[in-house]
Amino acid sequence: MMIRSVGKRAVRTFLWTAFLHFIFTGAEHDEDVSKSSVLQREKREWQWNMLLVYEEKQPQNPPEKIGRLKNTFFNKNAAFRLSGDGAGDTFSLNEFGEVLVLKKLDRETISSYTLKAQIIDSTNGRKLEEDTEFTIQVQDINDHTPVFSGPYTGFVNERAERGTVVMKVRATDKDDPSTPNGIVTYKLLNGTSFFRISDKTGEIFTTVDTLDRETQSEYTLMVQASDMPGLEGGRSASTVVTISIHDINDNVAMFSKQSYHFVVKEDVPVGFKIGTLDIKDRDEKQNKKPIFTVDHSHKDIFDLELNENNDGVLTLKKGLDYEMKKRYTFTVTVKENVAQPPDNTNPRTSAQIDITVEDVDEPPVFTKAEYTFNVTEGQKNIIVGSVSAKDPDKDSYRIRYSIKDPSSPVNINSETGQLTLKTALDRETYDVHVFHVTAEEESTRKLDSYAMVRINVLDINDNDPDLAEGSDVYICEKDESGTVIGVIGAIDKDENPGKFRFSLAGKSSNFSLYDNLNNTASVILTHGGFSTQRSVENILEIEITDGGTPPRKSIRPVRVRVCACRSERQIEYCAAYSKSGVSVSAVIAILLCILTILVIVILFVLRKRYQKEVILGKPFREIHEQLVAYDEEGGGEMDTNIYDVSILTSARSDARLGPDPAPPAMYSVVKKPSACKGDMAVMIEVKKDEADHDRDGIPYDTLHIYGYEGTESLAGSLSSLESSSSFGSELDYDFLNDWGPRFRTLAQIYGSEVNTSY
Ligand SMILES: *[C@@H]1O[C@H](CO)[C@@H](O)[C@H](O)[C@H]1NC(C)=O
Ligand SMILES: *[C@@H]1O[C@H](CO)[C@@H](O)[C@H](O)[C@H]1NC(C)=O
Ligand SMILES: *[C@@H]1O[C@H](CO)[C@@H](O)[C@H](O)[C@H]1NC(C)=O
Ligand SMILES: *[C@@H]1O[C@H](CO)[C@@H](O)[C@H](O)[C@H]1NC(C)=O
Repeated sequence: MMIRSVGKRAVRTFLWTAFLHFIFTGAEHDEDVSKSSVLQREKREWQWNMLLVYEEKQPQNPPEKIGRLKNTFFNKNAAFRLSGDGAGDTFSLNEFGEVLVLKKLDRETISSYTLKAQIIDSTNGRKLEEDTEFTIQVQDINDHTPVFSGPYTGFVNERAERGTVVMKVRATDKDDPSTPNGIVTYKLLNGTSFFRISDKTGEIFTTVDTLDRETQSEYTLMVQASDMPGLEGGRSASTVVTISIHDINDNVAMFSKQSYHFVVKEDVPVGFKIGTLDIKDRDEKQNKKPIFTVDHSHKDIFDLELNENNDGVLTLKKGLDYEMKKRYTFTVTVKENVAQPPDNTNPRTSAQIDITVEDVDEPPVFTKAEYTFNVTEGQKNIIVGSVSAKDPDKDSYRIRYSIKDPSSPVNINSETGQLTLKTALDRETYDVHVFHVTAEEESTRKLDSYAMVRINVLDINDNDPDLAEGSDVYICEKDESGTVIGVIGAIDKDENPGKFRFSLAGKSSNFSLYDNLNNTASVILTHGGFSTQRSVENILEIEITDGGTPPRKSIRPVRVRVCACRSERQIEYCAAYSKSGVSVSAVIAILLCILTILVIVILFVLRKRYQKEVILGKPFREIHEQLVAYDEEGGGEMDTNIYDVSILTSARSDARLGPDPAPPAMYSVVKKPSACKGDMAVMIEVKKDEADHDRDGIPYDTLHIYGYEGTESLAGSLSSLESSSSFGSELDYDFLNDWGPRFRTLAQIYGSEVNTSY
């Protein structure tokens, strides 16, 4: 009752008091304990000791007494009963109320047992007092060792500050943490010159700031965890801790050699990698960050860049030329931004570069990439200009010039490169010619190069002015004198014809011409009175002069129609004149066309007819195979069910039988079945021979299956007969070639077929 009414903490304090009392007085003196004032406050009350038992104690014989239950009601007849956790098998009561331990206990399994005690009258079994609950605490002993959950790995940067936390280790101890048995402390067994460990938390710190990965990149430490700090008999365990030292950039990159020598061909392209300058840096690759400088005098020609290994690669910034410079010598320097002060002192930060340029046979080089010449049109055999190329090599070869383009308007002097016109040029056809000239060195390698030549054709005034199209000059019947009846213009193919001037070539009493001085002229009617009824054709001869130097003149006719008009000179109809018609050249052209077509048609018809004759000479067959399947063998002469052998035997001898001579020699002499074997063999030989030599004959076995797909079939004919269609080609059309260009097409059609079919 009292136990239940007090708080847990009070219980613990009480337990401790009891425990200590127990220790000093021993369980045997329980009677003295029962007399303690605490337990004697209530008279009618359970009186009992705080019950405590140590774990891991072997059961004893007689069993260990850990305390005694007392009750003020206890009398001679009274008896105790125990129930609850472990009652009977772990704990029991003897008749004196003493609690006995029957078993070995483990605090880590069960740390306390709650039991109930009863006191009954053994004579009648009546309860003498209410049940009471009491607790047996299992006392911890140090029966567990700390356990690390490692192995542990950690890292710290080199040169990390003193006191940097590297990592934390932890060991657990199953013993009661409220007692020293369960309290773990840590200790470094070695490596204490670089690291220390917090004995309580297990954190590992650096004790120096001079850790150097390049000296030692990994530390292995032994860490010990112990319980019962400061007391004898503690348990301990140890573990291995691996600490890696991470790299920082604390080493300066330096050249591994004093000088580097490279040989490079003069024709290597810009950007070419000449060679590698290997760099020593004790740091890891990601902390190898060299910065290069090329000597000022050479930094336009050479450059240094990093390769994947962070070494320096010497590259070309500008083209080399053996003929100009054969050797380059310069210095390069390297530096690196590193942690100060760097680990390495006196690094080799500059190196000598020596580059030898190698001669390469190079193609000729033109003095210009493109040559432009001006040539006035219409001139012949003039010198346009010249091109020039040189072999840049030391022992230079002679150069030969040529023009590969056959359409170029000039010839080139292969020695001098002088360009001469082949024919006079016409600006109005092409005003510019562009082609390549080739320069080839006279060596075995025949290296060559090209240059572009551009010839501008300059204009001269070589074209007559002409009337511009679309000028419509007509007289309306009502027109009065002074009316402008049309405006004419002029054109000229030359480049800048200048101002055109117009005048009438012959005098006309009916018309006059007014030059508008803006390249047009107005035709003016001077006398009216024209009528569509009695009109004659009016042709005005107009003289046009262009503005070139020297000027060119031409006289062009302008036909003036006479028309009936509505208001505002809107034409109603015009007088009809017989037209002089088509020009002679047009007529000739049309006639030639007709002739050509005619000849083609005639030849075609002739060819067709010839082909037909050849094919129809033999009985015409359609182009397909007659498929004959011999799918049965027959029973020979004895098989009279299928073949009437008598027909075979009699067919020859009785040739009169049918009027049809169709199966002539094929079904011939077959003697009676009684004929002897020799005769039969002879007969077969004769038949075979006949068959072999007769090309028109059809094999005389009967026709069984006849497959015909028709001409629509997509599959090409396999027939050998097809070739008969080329019979017509036997005619030789080669003579068409001799007929000249007009018949070239024909000659190709027929001539080529002759060639391919044979
Ligand atoms: C600490 O001891 C372990 C185990 O003996 C050993 O491997 C390790 O190298 C030692 N560490 C140091 C820093 O001495
Ligand atoms: C060619 O003529 C053009 C104008 O017609 C002129 O500008 C150019 O300078 C001339 N070129 C040469 C090479 O004479
Ligand atoms: C002028 O026109 C008249 C008719 O109107 C014609 O008879 C005469 O021949 C013309 N004169 C000339 C020079 O064409
Ligand atoms: C030329 O001059 C005439 C008369 O001055 C004018 O009617 C015409 O429009 C002009 N033509 C052009 C193309 O300027």
